[in-house]
Amino acid sequence: MRPFRPRPESGATPYVIAHRGISAKAPENTLAAFRMAADARGVDMIELDVRLTRDEEVIVLHDRTLQRTTTGNGTARAYSSAELHAFDAGSWFHPSFKGEHMPTLREVLAGVGDHMWFDVEIKSDWMHREPPGLLERRVLETVREQNLMDRVMFSSFDHRLIANVKSLAPGSVTGALYNLYWDFPHSPSYFHERTGAEVFVCARHELRRSFVEDAHRVGMAVYVYTIDIPSDIQAMMSMGIDGIISNAADDIVPIIQSGWNRP
Ligand code: G3P
Ligand code: MG
Repeated sequence: MRPFRPRPESGATPYVIAHRGISAKAPENTLAAFRMAADARGVDMIELDVRLTRDEEVIVLHDRTLQRTTTGNGTARAYSSAELHAFDAGSWFHPSFKGEHMPTLREVLAGVGDHMWFDVEIKSDWMHREPPGLLERRVLETVREQNLMDRVMFSSFDHRLIANVKSLAPGSVTGALYNLYWDFPHSPSYFHERTGAEVFVCARHELRRSFVEDAHRVGMAVYVYTIDIPSDIQAMMSMGIDGIISNAADDIVPIIQSGWNRP
């Protein structure tokens, strides 16, 4: 398996990144969604969101609370990983996924890690904050245990967390997520200089051509989420972005690979 490099080779198509797995067709952030991504030809990377449990295990969950995507209530931090395992994380999406559970990061890396790259998005939680640095340390320990440091990107909207990852693991690749409200009016190179991040990640509606130029000038890659329809793929590819983060990554692979509407 090739090591992860933030930018595709010159002339290659953008990386295809499965947002929370193939979350359009399976419950987000479950092994079912991740296996679907790993089985799909041409999907390069899996994006997932991580938080900390009461017993300091790294769990895969997007929201601050459990209600939307599981049969649990409250925050992940209030439960042990064994307790979280008992909640159903599939039925809300479709009855055929009943029995899916919230996986730990370890389970995901061990289960589908043999031929994928991972974008591990570290979710900071200002409401139920763990001791400073603990989540980053546990994430790094988990990835190291699985010998996957060369296939993981560590990203966050909280740039203190990615700066911390970089200082704890200087060789790691990190991604700065952009939030218009917090980060306006800064450009990608600002985040690169402040945190060392090699990848700039923003939402489709936040992307500007000047961002791509500024990022590439300092050697940064640009990934954009969430791109699910062909006309968006066309627009993004014409701007020269390096990664497309999609809920239906399997469906966009053939569109990208056919060179459809490439500039
Ligand atoms: O990494 C891009 C994207 O995952 C960030 O937003 O809310 O889907 O985690 P969100
Ligand atoms: Mg995310």
